[in-house]
Amino acid sequence: MAEWQKSDWRAKPRVQMPDYTDQDALTATEAKLASYPPLVFAGEARSLKAKLAAASRGEAFLLQGGDCAEAFNQFSADHIRDTFKVMLQMAMVLTFGARVPVIKVGRMAGQFAKPRSAPTETVNGVELPSYRGDIINDLDFTPESRIPNPEKMLQAYTQAAATLNLLRAFSTGGYADMRQIHGWTLGFTESEKAAQFREMANRISDALDFMEAAGIDSEHEHSLHTVDFYTSHEGLLLEYEEALTRLDSTSGKWLAGSGHMLWIGDRTRQPDGAHVEFLQGVLNPIGLKCGPTTTAEDLKVLMQKLNPKNEAGRLTLIARFGAGTVGDHLPRLIKAVQEEGANVVWSCDPMHGNTIKSATGYKTRPFDSVLREVQEFFGVHKAEGTIPGGVHFEMTGQDVTECTGGVRDVTEEDLSDRYHTACDPRLNASQSLELAFLVAEELSSLRAEALNAKAS
Ligand code: PEP
Ligand code: CO
Repeated sequence: MAEWQKSDWRAKPRVQMPDYTDQDALTATEAKLASYPPLVFAGEARSLKAKLAAASRGEAFLLQGGDCAEAFNQFSADHIRDTFKVMLQMAMVLTFGARVPVIKVGRMAGQFAKPRSAPTETVNGVELPSYRGDIINDLDFTPESRIPNPEKMLQAYTQAAATLNLLRAFSTGGYADMRQIHGWTLGFTESEKAAQFREMANRISDALDFMEAAGIDSEHEHSLHTVDFYTSHEGLLLEYEEALTRLDSTSGKWLAGSGHMLWIGDRTRQPDGAHVEFLQGVLNPIGLKCGPTTTAEDLKVLMQKLNPKNEAGRLTLIARFGAGTVGDHLPRLIKAVQEEGANVVWSCDPMHGNTIKSATGYKTRPFDSVLREVQEFFGVHKAEGTIPGGVHFEMTGQDVTECTGGVRDVTEEDLSDRYHTACDPRLNASQSLELAFLVAEELSSLRAEALNAKAS
């Protein structure tokens, strides 16, 4: 078989990608991007893969989250900091509650391209091509805005680079120091969960004081004062991905240099399609969304293509079925994985199967459905004796009103107050934290059961 080439996808059927009209502008943009530095390095992708391998064995837990779609006009240090902060808080809740290391992966620094359920949208009788994310066209509802413009890839690259730079600074420059845990609670709007978080923060501080007094602190300098934070996005716009793909000189393998982890969406996972062709050839850890229409046969073919060596940590299956239907789908896909003896991380995306239109006209997600899908996911894994390895959320650190419910009960009438998403509705900071406490409970009860089983 001929060796994989980063341009092989061009010969395959493609879906959900724009038809650029200005070929010269496209070629010039690709050439420019190909001359720019990659955003991530192969060693980082490998270290994330090793951590995900631990998650596949139940020795770590993946927390993946961020915007549905990053937007050029919402690009700011505060926005990045707030999402980073709420992810650290959630990770802390999980580590503390379930005694498990948490792998932190942002849907950040590259999450710009969106698959859409319909190629056009109609507003007041006017039909225009759908918005496909800021890397492709503009959200404004005018014919000019919706024309795909290849040069937008350059702005996406710049925003991704600056975002990653800030994330790296936050991760290692003192902000993520565990001693700052009380600082992370500043700006909390009061809720039961905020109080619960503060209580936990006090206990962690006490433990840190004890460690310092006992002289243990200094030995763990690195892990107490910095975090490893990774980036991820859907590998959808393949011209962008190909242009940032580079040969790793250490291993002789290809690295998608646009982010640490890339996933294949529910609409682009055709086994013979362009997206599977591209992602099978890069060394990064990859995700595969699995939905109600994923068949066991397709999953087997996809696992074979995407992870032929059955490397642990290479493939994360992101289940997104919708509350009430996890029991109809997850067991049959778990069976397919078991029949193949495949190493995978099972992650739960409780967002994309639970999108509804509110009576007030907004695309929303009821917090109860999100929560219920997570519980069903854990329930199935418990029943099957398999490992729930992670969660995947659309969330933001801002105090938005996009998903209904939660302890501070966002109602359908509230949605119009602070509805800022460029695409799907996100959990706000309070809802995200609430969910983290729930996941921690599920995980710790699972661990307690496993320990009991061992002991008896
Ligand atoms: C997404 O993650 O934003 C998305 C579009 O998901 P899915 O492919 O699962 O529908
Ligand atoms: Co989405």
